[in-house]
Amino acid sequence: MLVLGIESTCDETACAVVRDGYEILSNVVSSQIDLHKEFGGVVPELACRRHIDLIIPILDESLKLANINLQDLDLIAVAHGPGLIGALLIGLNMAKSLAVALKKPFIGINHIEAHLYAALMSHNEKIAFPYLGVVLSGGHTSLVLMEDIGTYRLISQTVDDAIGEAFDKVAKMLGLPYPGGPEIEALARQGDPSRFPFKGGRVKTRPLDFSFSGLKTAVLYALQDLAPTESDKCDIAASFQRAAFDDIVSKALQAASQYHLKTMIFGGGVTNNKYLRQLFAERAPNCTLVWPSTGLSLDNAAMIAGLAYHHYLKRQKGDALDLEPLVRIPF
Ligand code: KG4
Ligand code: ZN
Repeated sequence: MLVLGIESTCDETACAVVRDGYEILSNVVSSQIDLHKEFGGVVPELACRRHIDLIIPILDESLKLANINLQDLDLIAVAHGPGLIGALLIGLNMAKSLAVALKKPFIGINHIEAHLYAALMSHNEKIAFPYLGVVLSGGHTSLVLMEDIGTYRLISQTVDDAIGEAFDKVAKMLGLPYPGGPEIEALARQGDPSRFPFKGGRVKTRPLDFSFSGLKTAVLYALQDLAPTESDKCDIAASFQRAAFDDIVSKALQAASQYHLKTMIFGGGVTNNKYLRQLFAERAPNCTLVWPSTGLSLDNAAMIAGLAYHHYLKRQKGDALDLEPLVRIPF
């Protein structure tokens, strides 16, 4: 089954062709980082306009690279949320138009669920359920009990900033460009992670939930006290990164033990971070850790097409043409 995936939830325009859920025939991503860099974050209106300009050329390129034409497709899949409303509408309307014109089914996919599927897609061998899903992206931070594809229970989530958002905001405080995650990771490599006693936040009534706003404020105060040199900035980046990731690893381990889970799968742009992967490897030696491959960890459409294959097989039908874009989707 040949599935076209379309992704336009935020600041990446992407199309991909995937055979039977795993075999990636093409995976074309156009990042808008340069467009948003000067504003220090994503400007929704600019993102939408860029999606409109790019989506058809990217579709053409993905078909060309996969060496197929539109008629060869069996299913059109699109991320219909969560994301920026205007950006979502562009991908969703293209998917619907293609479905009508080609008389093919189309299916809406949860972008966050697809981030977790990206890790499964990156591994050829089948990995037995259940898993602890660890979502670490720009907009979401959550732990999810995954019993099967499509059967999930939300264990915990952030009560304020998402982890990627915290990285982006701290980077901004340090005068680093957007997106801040890779910049902080690079700076942290030269810093002393034990210099500042930063800590991840505790949510009293829900101990597995996350909170990063206090950590962010602690960084701000440390910077205000210092008039920081380059070397101070490296130490702040390293201390912030370690505090944030220590908190995530501890809560993930606690959830795994509480729900008797031996496998963790990871999704979202922050999983690109090498220090994060190293920390999990050190502190969770008895768990099987399933990470997305590099090309699948940031936003992409291959994960959308791959996951859609499984949902379509289960349901045996696509979505109705009045499917709405969803700014938020509860897990
Ligand atoms: O999953 P993603 O591509 O978009 C969303 O669905 O939100 O994640 C983007 C986020 C950004 O906040 C970016 O700063 C962060 O992932 N990120 C990283 C790294 N690479 C990307 N954070 C920490 N370390 C990295 N190496
Ligand atoms: Zn994403």
